[in-house]
Amino acid sequence: MSISQTLLLLFFFTFLSLSQPQPQSPSDVPSTTVCIIGAGIGGSSVSHFLRKYSPDSTPFTKILIFERNPVVGGRMATVTIAGDTFEAGASILHPKNLHAVNYTKLLNLKVKPPSLESNSLGIWNGKKFVFKTVKISSYDIALIDRFLKLPFIEYLVSYIVSLYNSVLLLVRYGFSLLKMQNFVESAVDKFSKYYEGDESRPIFESVDEMLKWSGLYNLTTRSLKDELVDAGLSPLLINELITVITRINYGQSVHMSGLAGAVSLAGSGGGLWSIEGGNWQMAAGLINQSDVVLHLNEEIKSVAHVGDYYELNSTKGNSYTCDVAVVATPLDELNIQFNPPISIPERKLQHTYTTFVRGLLDPVYFGLKAESKIPELVGTIEDPDLPFSSISVLKKHNEKESTYKIFSRQPMADTLLDSIFSARKETIRINWAAYPHYHAPEIFAPFILDGRHLYYVNAFENAASTMETSCVAAENIARLMLSRYFGQVILPSSLTPSSQGEGEHSDL
Ligand SMILES: Cc1cc2nc3c(=O)[nH]c(=O)nc-3n(C[C@H](O)[C@H](O)[C@H](O)COP(=O)(O)OP(=O)(O)OC[C@H]3O[C@@H](n4cnc5c(N)ncnc54)[C@H](O)[C@@H]3O)c2cc1C
Ligand SMILES: *[C@@H]1O[C@H](CO)[C@@H](O)[C@H](O)[C@H]1NC(C)=O
Ligand SMILES: *[C@@H]1O[C@H](CO)[C@@H](O)[C@H](O)[C@H]1NC(C)=O
Ligand SMILES: *[C@@H]1O[C@H](CO)[C@@H](O)[C@H](O)[C@H]1NC(C)=O
Ligand SMILES: *[C@@H]1O[C@H](CO)[C@@H](O)[C@H](O)[C@H]1NC(C)=O
Repeated sequence: MSISQTLLLLFFFTFLSLSQPQPQSPSDVPSTTVCIIGAGIGGSSVSHFLRKYSPDSTPFTKILIFERNPVVGGRMATVTIAGDTFEAGASILHPKNLHAVNYTKLLNLKVKPPSLESNSLGIWNGKKFVFKTVKISSYDIALIDRFLKLPFIEYLVSYIVSLYNSVLLLVRYGFSLLKMQNFVESAVDKFSKYYEGDESRPIFESVDEMLKWSGLYNLTTRSLKDELVDAGLSPLLINELITVITRINYGQSVHMSGLAGAVSLAGSGGGLWSIEGGNWQMAAGLINQSDVVLHLNEEIKSVAHVGDYYELNSTKGNSYTCDVAVVATPLDELNIQFNPPISIPERKLQHTYTTFVRGLLDPVYFGLKAESKIPELVGTIEDPDLPFSSISVLKKHNEKESTYKIFSRQPMADTLLDSIFSARKETIRINWAAYPHYHAPEIFAPFILDGRHLYYVNAFENAASTMETSCVAAENIARLMLSRYFGQVILPSSLTPSSQGEGEHSDL
């Protein structure tokens, strides 16, 4: 609502109330509508932080969220195969993902600890396993358990196995492993600066500014490989183990940016967790708690700046008037029409084909004698002839049946699957427009798309794409919006932008 409309309304109310005095009502504060496109972790976090940082504005700020799917969560989604439910998209959280940790507490969600079973890893080059750790299955543990009847035997056994596997890794890759750990820890420490309080942490108007402040920007200007070579890592480690990890986490090679690379390596360490029943519940819970009007099955097809407000039109033929609009989805493969047009750097999304199979792997494909000899996680090196990035066991049902997850850059055809599996009871394929295709140097889209009140959370995805980076970007966008739009209405003293200039309050 524009100021002139508001004045007119106020005048009208004053006129009406001449004879009957009105109790104090919020009608003398202009009401505001914030529209958010996308109900993933980014969009839901924006609504959460708006409410958290500006509780006083709740009665006269409407938040609308539009989601084209029939469910919330976006790239956090589950898949059900033969009666069992697994994460289909974003699956793991790092112990230092503090927003996710807080959401879990706030929403009373249950943490699913990392699996006890020490997963065996094999690095497959298309002909043989160039590296393999030893394997111990829950069956072996259960068997040992039955005979020894010692408390904590499972922990002991898996501890010894993991210790032994650490030695195997050290023998092959040497002290480069420690250098890799230092590289990752340094990036994680810098990222933790985004959890500092308002007093010491500015509000950022651009991704570049945000990354420079934490010291992470330089990592986006060079490739992971260049960074690791400079850090003194051996080519063997880079071409094998590290390549395996970047292929699993981002479907890409070590030519990706150093920052996305560091994030993907952090996603291979210890203490990783997820949410029992599905990570999507974070988005659902935040929306439920944030006094939001949620429009499911409603895709926004145009965003027009008309006079003092934004007009969002949906494929349902509805038209919504918003004072502030937030894009909380990657724009790269969408054709939302913006008027006036916006300009963002071209960005390609990496498609990751996720194939779920309930059945049994064929040892013959891997040149092995028995299925039990196949590692629980088969990673691959960079080779254009390799048809998949990884195959992992999600659940072992019995000796004849497991559920597997395959990541690949191309769809997995039936004939190919038939050569890899000896039995296949059910197969589910998902083609994800998964994350940006990373390269160095990265060029970032703006957080503020039009210099006014149209915001873009997923500009930050060029730094790295994770649930937590979406939260961090959304938190900054909420503060940015509060300082730029709401600044003159209700200004919590801490919400002042870090730099002047762009922050004009043209609509107030
Ligand atoms: C296979 C895979 C594995 C991953 N693994 C991990 C992992 O282990 N850990 C991790 O942290 N991250 C992981 N990620 C990345 C993580 O999923 C994303 O970074 C994060 O979920 C992005 O959240 P978002 O809210 O920004 O976007 P999204 O989740 O994509 O949400 C955007 C929403 O907007 C909706 N939308 C789009 N256009 C419109 C429109 N025009 N109108 C209305 N609604 C619209 C979409 O339907 C979607 O629901 C993985 C991703 C994939 C694909
Ligand atoms: C998590 O919640 C605690 C307690 O409310 C708060 O002190 C802390 O700042 C929160 N962390 C983040 C990253 O928001
Ligand atoms: C980033 O790179 C620039 C230019 O090479 C350098 O001056 C700066 O010190 C670097 N910053 C960090 C945090 O390493
Ligand atoms: C929404 O929140 C209320 C309490 O605030 C809770 O009772 C309800 O179960 C929640 N619903 C969902 C779907 O999370
Ligand atoms: C949006 O819908 C309104 C009302 O139907 C219409 O007047 C307007 O032209 C539409 N805008 C766009 C960009 O399609």
